[in-house]
Amino acid sequence: MPEPKDFNDRMLSLGLARVAEQAAIASADLIGRGDEKAADQAAVNAMREELNKLDISGVVVIGEGERDEAPMLYIGEEVGRGGPGVDIALDPLEGTTLTALDMPNALTVIAMGPRGSMLHAPDVYMDKLAIGPGYAVDVVSLDMSPAERVEALAAAKGCTTRDITCCILDRPRHESMIAEVRKTGAGIRLITDGDVAGVMHCAETEKTGIDMYMGSGGAPEGVLAAAALKCMGGQMWGRLLFRNDDERGRAAKAGITDLNKIYARDELVTDHVIFAATGVTNGSVVEGIKRSPGWIETETILMRSKTGSVRRMQYRNPFEHKI
Ligand code: FBP
Repeated sequence: MPEPKDFNDRMLSLGLARVAEQAAIASADLIGRGDEKAADQAAVNAMREELNKLDISGVVVIGEGERDEAPMLYIGEEVGRGGPGVDIALDPLEGTTLTALDMPNALTVIAMGPRGSMLHAPDVYMDKLAIGPGYAVDVVSLDMSPAERVEALAAAKGCTTRDITCCILDRPRHESMIAEVRKTGAGIRLITDGDVAGVMHCAETEKTGIDMYMGSGGAPEGVLAAAALKCMGGQMWGRLLFRNDDERGRAAKAGITDLNKIYARDELVTDHVIFAATGVTNGSVVEGIKRSPGWIETETILMRSKTGSVRRMQYRNPFEHKI
C-alpha cells in the first residue's frame, strides 16, 4: 500500500484528541498542589510520549521553547513514527498557575496542519483582538482604541456598549485598556491566565457571555487561539510586540521581517488544521478532569477547520492512583 502523503485530518483527529487527553490525565495529580513546574513537566512528558505513537512525520513549530532552553517538545523537534509531514503547535499545559492553584480554564492544547500552515511565532508577546462569528470582516481592528472597539462591536451587534463583555488578562500593562473599556460601560471578565481559552470564549458568546477578547499575551498562544477560532468561527488579529533586540532576533530567526505586521486569523493559520484541547481544571470551554478512586474522566473539544465540526468528547478510563 502506498504511504499516505496527504494531511488526512479526518483520520488524524482522534489521535490528536488522545494526545490532549493524556497530557491532561498526567497533570491530574498536580491540580491544586501548588507546583506549576511539576504540572507542566508531567503534561509535557505525556504529550510527547503520545505524539510519538502517531503515524506522522511531525515537526513542532510552536512548542515549549528554543532547543537550548527546552529539552522536550522544543521548536523544530521531530515527532511521530513516520507518515505524512505535518506541523504541530502545542501547549501541553496552558495555564500552569491555574492548574497549580486549581483555578478555572487550564487546558492542554494542540493543533496540527500541513507543513507551513501555522506562523512560526517567536516566544514574544502578541497584541491580540478576537470576536466571535457572524460579524462583517474587520468590524473591529487592532488600530482602534479599546473604546472604539467596544463601540463598533456594540453597533454591529445592535446593542448598547453596556451589553458588551470583554475578556482581558489582569496585568498592570492592561491598566489603561481596562479603564478605557470600563468608561464605555462595557463589562470586563478579568482572567489571571489562559488567553487561549479567553479567545475561544468569543466563539461561544451565548454560553460564556464574552463578546470580545483584547490585550497582550504570549505569541505562541496567539497562534493556538487562531487555530481554535479557525475551526469554531470568529475573527482574530495579532501583532507581535518586541521589547528588546533579543526578541527582535527571535523574530529574525523565525523568518519574520515585517515587525509591525498585523496578522489576521488566516495569516496566523494559513491552511486547514485540526485542534484538540482537554480541560484540566473546570472551565467554560470544557469541563475539567473528574476523578474518583477507580476512574478518571476528561472532556476534550476536538475540531476541524475544513468542516467547522466541533465535537466534545468524554473519555472515561480506569485509573490507578499512584500512592
Ligand atoms: P503559562 O501556562 O505558560 O503559565 O501561560 C499562561 C498565560 O496566561 C497565557 O495564557 C498568556 O498568553 C501568557 O501566560 C501571558 O503572559 P504573562 O503572564 O507574561 O502576562
